[in-house]
Amino acid sequence: MEIVLADYAGFCFGVKRALQMTHEASGRHNSLKSLGPLIHNPQVVEQLERQGVGVAHNTDEVQDDVVIIRSHGVSPDVLERLEGKAKATINATCPFVSRAQQLANRLTEEGYRTVVVGDKNHPEVIGIVGWTKGKAIVVETPEQAQGLDLHGEKVAVIAQTTQPEENFRAAVEILKKQKNDLVVHNTICHATRERQEAASRLARSVDLMVVVGGRNSANTKKLAKLCQATGTPTYHIEHAGELCAPWFQDIKRVGVTAGASTPEWIIEEVVEKMTDIKNEDINKEEMEQEGTAAETVEQEAEENAAQE
Ligand code: F3S
Repeated sequence: MEIVLADYAGFCFGVKRALQMTHEASGRHNSLKSLGPLIHNPQVVEQLERQGVGVAHNTDEVQDDVVIIRSHGVSPDVLERLEGKAKATINATCPFVSRAQQLANRLTEEGYRTVVVGDKNHPEVIGIVGWTKGKAIVVETPEQAQGLDLHGEKVAVIAQTTQPEENFRAAVEILKKQKNDLVVHNTICHATRERQEAASRLARSVDLMVVVGGRNSANTKKLAKLCQATGTPTYHIEHAGELCAPWFQDIKRVGVTAGASTPEWIIEEVVEKMTDIKNEDINKEEMEQEGTAAETVEQEAEENAAQE
């Protein structure tokens, strides 16, 4: 069985940056908390907790702590609330998300109604909507874009940075039918595009795909969906312990990809476990072959003895 890793997989620039800022800050501050789990990966969050980095699930849980804003960013309201409560704020918002926030803010000031193509409950989208003073409309699917009443308004459309390109394009096409002067800003980040393209490409060339990442990670779930859409059987796992040997029976080529919040060590463990499964399989095959050979030799010996 051949194990092939996607050309782009795992930690993206924004997540690496947020983690680096957190590690640096943990050496300097005693009471350090991220506002929400720093990244959507439970194993990494547990590791951070062991290093003394806690989680405040909302601003009410902040009391004179140093607070890290994660890569998803927050609304201006949240930043303002933190000013009164936190000892200090370290803003680790991914620069690509900041760019989308600033754009949403500017479009609102220029009188545009902004449509955000994204998951309405995702923290990044909630933050972006906050930068439009709550005026943005969120659509998750092209079908939802169909039903919008945008009469008499200047309309602009932007994307959650981790949206699948096709979903965004399809929503834009529908909006353009209603608004031929639609202003389009594709804010999908480079890292997302690379990871999604690499995952689909790999999924088309293998017998099975394994997608590694937190079940609460939207971008990992999207990768799994894209892989599934190619018709290749796909499993979404969080860690190596979830791999099952029977999945790999009769599989000649397996592809591995990972979400933007999946660390290198988890990917390595998954590949190692797959290699073990593959080796066990080879050993079993060899033992079976040897067993058959031994049976044949014994049979021959018995037959020869009978003839003598
Ligand atoms: Fe930033 Fe894109 Fe990662 S927006 S956090 S580089 S997925």
